[in-house]
Amino acid sequence: MAEQIALDPQTLVPRVIGRYTPVFVDRAAGVRVWDRDGIEYLDFTSGIAVVNAGHCHPAVVAAIQEQAGKIIHAQQNILMHEPMLQAAAALSETFPESLNQVFWTNSGAEAIEGAIKLAKVATRRPAVIAFRGAFHGRTHGAMSVTSSRVKVRGHYEPLLSSVFYAPYPYYFRSPVPGGEDGADDFYIAELKSLFDTLVMPDDVAAILVETIAGEGGYLVPSARWLRELRSICDEHGILLIMDEIQTGMGRTGKMWGFDHFDVVPDIVTVAKGIASGMPVSAVVSSKAIMDNWAPGAHGGTYGGNAVGTAAAAATLRVMRDDHLPENAAAMGERLMTGLREIQRRTSSIGDVRGLGLMVAVEFVTDSGDPNPAAVSQVIQRCFDQQILLINCGTYDQAIRIIPPLVVNEAEIDRFLDVFGQAVDAL
Ligand SMILES: Cc1ncc(COP(=O)(O)O)c(C=O)c1O
Repeated sequence: MAEQIALDPQTLVPRVIGRYTPVFVDRAAGVRVWDRDGIEYLDFTSGIAVVNAGHCHPAVVAAIQEQAGKIIHAQQNILMHEPMLQAAAALSETFPESLNQVFWTNSGAEAIEGAIKLAKVATRRPAVIAFRGAFHGRTHGAMSVTSSRVKVRGHYEPLLSSVFYAPYPYYFRSPVPGGEDGADDFYIAELKSLFDTLVMPDDVAAILVETIAGEGGYLVPSARWLRELRSICDEHGILLIMDEIQTGMGRTGKMWGFDHFDVVPDIVTVAKGIASGMPVSAVVSSKAIMDNWAPGAHGGTYGGNAVGTAAAAATLRVMRDDHLPENAAAMGERLMTGLREIQRRTSSIGDVRGLGLMVAVEFVTDSGDPNPAAVSQVIQRCFDQQILLINCGTYDQAIRIIPPLVVNEAEIDRFLDVFGQAVDAL
């Protein structure tokens, strides 16, 4: 009895931890998780885009086990170790040549903190431009550049000063006519107007952008818009930070989201999929930019943790050897085709969008407004059929479909079948 009380989540877990499902998990493998009663679920959440290589990939598990038996905490200011170097080498191989140094951290938010600090030090400028609807994390700095939902930052003021927001492309709800091109003209003009009204460009250290807006609703910008950010940065000596925390590690069908757009950032933040669930993240940049950081100007006790980076190195090997970005592209195409077929038979789906296996379906009311009630119903009906899903968007208006990248055709087809029935039942 005492043991039962001791393990009661109602008693022990603060209510700030809102949970999407009542599942009390026991174990997981690949795309599947099993609860304590042995009930099997298809996990189309990947633990919020984390287990891209699948739950408990045997090669990652083996790397963790082997490293844990050698040394767990090889503190990076005291000791050098191989996993950290192997993971850094494997990671920089996936980037354009200029992005060749890796600063290891422990979470997405911490990587964002590092990237902003690095940009400030490298430019000796105070300001940051971020985008409406962006999500970059929960620490004070990361919150200050986040605006996906007011509950993330509300009641936490004051936040970091000198953060200026421009709108992020949301073509499905474009505020102007003229399709994507007309919308891009508007979004670019809005961004540039910051320099006429709010901040001098030579006060701006960085433009920080998600390559695809994640929590904000899985919004895919155009190559033209992203390239325009690059050229604004080049014109004014501003650093372009791309947050690849949710888009990265093969999720979009290429290793990095920016690989789709022919844009090379100055600084990249990486987390989530990098280490299959071990708390590892990184700031990646050029040596020239990193050299602005004097020894001790930034750091952290656990950065480059030996077990974590061993998991990262193993995950990167699995990505490459099992061709997971390629599988994400192929399975993403199958998924998209199936979703578009479902969209054709209902007026409740307003938009199906995404790249690779970073896909969202936006639900609308008869008048075209966001429809979070439909989102909840579809998620619940899929859950009743043992498929796990989560939402996204400021108004919870979209369902994101983000299975591990090891997902196969049969699993995609089963999902489409269950999802289609859930939509038909609306
Ligand atoms: C794009 C993006 N950046 C940053 C973060 C913050 O990552 P973490 O929760 O690991 O701090 C997230 C988390 O969802 C994210 O999606």
